[in-house]
Amino acid sequence: MVRDAALRAQYLQTLGIEQWQLRRVAPAIPPAQRPAMPTAQPPVAAPSPKPTPPAPATSGAWQELAAEVHGCVRCGLHATRTQTVFGVGNLSAELLVVGEAPGADEDRQGEPFVGRAGQLLNSMLRAMRAPRDTVYIANLLKCRPPSNRDPAPGEVASCQPYLQRQIELLRPRLMLAVGRIAAQNLLATDTPISKLRGVVHRYGTAGTPLIVTYHPAYLLRSPTEKRKSWVDLRLVCGELARLRALPRNS
Ligand code: URA
Repeated sequence: MVRDAALRAQYLQTLGIEQWQLRRVAPAIPPAQRPAMPTAQPPVAAPSPKPTPPAPATSGAWQELAAEVHGCVRCGLHATRTQTVFGVGNLSAELLVVGEAPGADEDRQGEPFVGRAGQLLNSMLRAMRAPRDTVYIANLLKCRPPSNRDPAPGEVASCQPYLQRQIELLRPRLMLAVGRIAAQNLLATDTPISKLRGVVHRYGTAGTPLIVTYHPAYLLRSPTEKRKSWVDLRLVCGELARLRALPRNS
């Protein structure tokens, strides 16, 4: 319980969620019966893996894929993009975060989740003790849909092989789909996101575990939902800890 409370407090503080305290006057306890105060904070989650350099065996394959994406003209989005947004992160990451598509900031900077939603995603990752440089972040689409409209099915289908290849190269222990569009497309379902949360799904032929949570942009619009996202992030922490005890990809 103490550990739960510490985890929750840290997330809520990180995300700027106001914390409510029960105003209860504790009955006086004689000093001899008082429980000892903990002297150190309990660990919040498993320590995050140290950032490691790109895995040499696959770095050439990553470069080839990045070059292919860079020159992609498979769908009409190539005509309106400033640049492609391939993905970013640790090529030895255990956790792959998958978003929807680049927005205006990402289109300008060429990196996923660098705008306001990205700042919140960074806080969520830090709260999980899995900071941005220890995970890999990619989107379903590598190009920005104009006016941030939802991706069209044909655009998702054209881009899907790129994410597929990223997953093959990374071989993450766990995937975190952020938002309805990423979750529904990865899981090939139209089930509402509220019903996809709270379960460990399996993705692809490798059966990679996949957890769904709300998109940080949605959380910015609906801050009261942040509490639910914390439940999801704790599921991620627990599942990662469980998976670490197993051989990679088993
Ligand atoms: N939203 C996403 O889904 N991806 C990004 O990269 C930025 C915003």
